[in-house]
Amino acid sequence: MTLFPPKIMLLGSGELGKEIGIAAQRLGCNVIACDRYTNAPAMQIADKAEVLDMTDPNNLKDVIRKHKPTVVVPEIEALAVDALIELEKEGVKIIPTARATAITMNRDKIRDLASKELGIKTAQFAYASNPNQLYIEAESLGFPVIIKPVMSSSGKGQTLVHRQEDLPKAWEYAMKGARGSSEKVIIEEFLKFELEITLLTIKQKNGNTLFCKPIGHEQSEGDYQCSWQPATLTDKQLEDAKSMAKIITDNLGGEGLFGVEFFICQGEVIFSELSPRPHDTGLVTIISQNFNEFELHLRAILGLPIPEIINTKPAASRVILAKSNCSKVCYKGVEKALSESNSKLLLFGKPNAKKGRRMGVALAVDELIKDACEKADKLANFIEVMEDK
Ligand SMILES: Nc1ncnc2c1ncn2[C@@H]1O[C@H](COP(=O)(O)OP(=O)(O)O)[C@@H](O)[C@H]1O
Ligand SMILES: [Mg+2]
Repeated sequence: MTLFPPKIMLLGSGELGKEIGIAAQRLGCNVIACDRYTNAPAMQIADKAEVLDMTDPNNLKDVIRKHKPTVVVPEIEALAVDALIELEKEGVKIIPTARATAITMNRDKIRDLASKELGIKTAQFAYASNPNQLYIEAESLGFPVIIKPVMSSSGKGQTLVHRQEDLPKAWEYAMKGARGSSEKVIIEEFLKFELEITLLTIKQKNGNTLFCKPIGHEQSEGDYQCSWQPATLTDKQLEDAKSMAKIITDNLGGEGLFGVEFFICQGEVIFSELSPRPHDTGLVTIISQNFNEFELHLRAILGLPIPEIINTKPAASRVILAKSNCSKVCYKGVEKALSESNSKLLLFGKPNAKKGRRMGVALAVDELIKDACEKADKLANFIEVMEDK
């Protein structure tokens, strides 16, 4: 049993960490927010903040040992995972497990686990550690192919390649976009999918694995642009997705909410990747569910009960992006956006912006998915991210 208030340490203090922090604060928890820069979104609502390089094992160990949190909750991928593995052996609780954070940080590790070990259907894939190998593997898979650094997120270093001649450029781009020093790429068959979804999967310590209604989403420029819930799947597709999500999350172990990504391609469900933490496309659950994905994550990691997850109406989210670099941001159009019925606006409170950075999200519910999507789009369009002169 968790004695309240527990101490929650967030590794990563972006908009998703902020929402976990808000859920935790509502239950009177003690929140320590860590990130590489000051005044990050989750720090604004936390009891304490720590600024550090979380890819440095000694820095990470020091900060965790200093605060002795009840649970360490990773919000980002780029962490010194070996330090987390070491701390876990000393009895520190890492969510969901240190091994899960290590496996999902590398595209090759999670892909090998899903496809080779667990026999889960994925796109065809191969790896390459130099341009020559890339050439051979891409030829053998057949064009078009997607090339991604094994360590990267938010579409960084990814290219869709249609012709052999474009491979050297894709290799260079992958090396530039890779996190860390790994010179390895994954080459994937390009799937012409009908739909991509996130299945939020909640693994509990003392209870069944729960699922939220599937979330459909669209990606471009390496990031999610809009999401909606529920996504329309056949009963068979939903059962297949749930069964794959259960197999993988059971293997990864621990407890918490996972964002399991699938493609629906020619009617078939194909596993893509997963986050062992709340997923950005799941921001829609702030308006669509009685417990949003952050509250569900918190309950699962603290071993608290999760009664029925209830969805009210079809819902949608649309991201609000910065159109230019801003050293200090301000927003126009807030009054207009807030005048929409059955909607919410989240501004993340990021202190500055780069072109394309996600600064907020518009959320809406309506009778039909189509109308919820249109409303969220309209609301997002009202907001202008500007330099605060
Ligand atoms: N094999 C593929 N076929 C078609 N589209 C893909 C494939 N792999 C990735 N994508 C597209 O690129 C997006 C980002 O890829 P993903 O592997 O999820 O990387 P990230 O870690 O950056 O989210 C996906 O959501 C999907 O839209
Ligand atoms: Mg993804």
